Amino acid sequence: MSEPGLFCQINTAATGPAETVKKHVPVITLPEKVKAGEPFTVTIKVGEAPHVMENGHFIQFIDLYCGHIYLSRVDFTAVMTKPDISFSIVLQHEGSRTLRAFSRCNLHGIWEGTREVNVMT
Ligand SMILES: [Fe+2]
Repeated sequence: MSEPGLFCQINTAATGPAETVKKHVPVITLPEKVKAGEPFTVTIKVGEAPHVMENGHFIQFIDLYCGHIYLSRVDFTAVMTKPDISFSIVLQHEGSRTLRAFSRCNLHGIWEGTREVNVMT
């Protein structure tokens, strides 16, 4: 069943309840070291616990941002895909950045997961 309140905001791990958070907050995985100007792989999986991908309830997309800069999107169809993806990205400047992933569930709204990355020269 749809939860209308979840569609009026960007949901995070703090939104709760824990069971919903576990299935919706994107989990970002990165290499330990990232060098400026060199490609690296960012893996994003929706939820610590698997989210269903049924026709009536599924993850519609994952967007990836670096801070407020849009990087990429992957769209999903129900049944035949899984919200577990990899992006190859290149960050050009050294320093600390926040990678932000947004996933949208058709019944539970948009969820944000973040991960800090320290880009070295
Ligand atoms: Fe959901």
